[in-house]
Amino acid sequence: MPLATILFALLFYAAAAVLAGGLAYRIVGYLRTPAPLKIPTTPAPTTRGGVALRLLREVALFESLFKASLWLWIFAWLFHVGLAVVLLRHLRYFTNPVWSWVAFVGPFGVYAGFAMVAGLGGLWVRRVFVPRVRYISTPSDHLMIALLVAIALTGLAMKFVAHTDVVAVKAFFLGLMSFRWRALPADPLLYLHLALVAALMIVFPFSKLLHAPGIFFSPSRNQVDDPREHRHLAAWAARLDPKV
Ligand code: HEM
Repeated sequence: MPLATILFALLFYAAAAVLAGGLAYRIVGYLRTPAPLKIPTTPAPTTRGGVALRLLREVALFESLFKASLWLWIFAWLFHVGLAVVLLRHLRYFTNPVWSWVAFVGPFGVYAGFAMVAGLGGLWVRRVFVPRVRYISTPSDHLMIALLVAIALTGLAMKFVAHTDVVAVKAFFLGLMSFRWRALPADPLLYLHLALVAALMIVFPFSKLLHAPGIFFSPSRNQVDDPREHRHLAAWAARLDPKV
């Protein structure tokens, strides 16, 4: 087995473990964090179904961002929708036979790669050229954008500049999942794409990218506006309250 195959196999097992373990750790942390105050951003839904709908609109359409800043919304939405389609298209490397809806998404994935880069470009320009945004930007803000741009550009380069053997790439990843290793094609662009992806998986649970699962745990978004109907008591406070 080539050395690069062994190194990438070990790297991806480690990255998958850090991603899954790190996310689980973070989510348990979110679940355990007390929400002592009733603070839904109003106007807010008065039923749990309404809250679910609000979260869905927030996640799918970035509703509050749309109301806050149209330019920021355009670039953020473009990037996230592009990323979502690209990730769905990538499922073909991990499924055999490829699910029919993944095959359907496939052709859109290529445009989505460009949409991703355009969105990220807009977000990066904003960070560099809008003084009040530049002032609050940390090196990690720039590095996360750079990492995502680099992943997208190396992916697009494999698609349009120097083709890689996608059948062998798929065999490698299916082999990793079934613990029957297969050789990874010796292709520098693919090595770079995969190393950057592994880096993304490893930093994800410790970075600002945690906003993806985090939004579901945000009290200002996930609370029902019912403090007139029910007295709000955090679970830990209820245990201390003699009246309850
Ligand atoms: C282990 C996970 C991944 C593998 C095995 C992988 C592999 C590949 C391969 C082989 C291509 C070339 C496709 C072709 O020539 O038709 C590609 C393209 C691409 N990759 Fe990845 N990639 C992975 C993860 C990611 C992630 C996490 C992102 C985004 C953050 C990403 C973004 C892209 C983009 C934008 C393209 C170009 C458009 C497309 O072909 O879909 N990749 N990837």
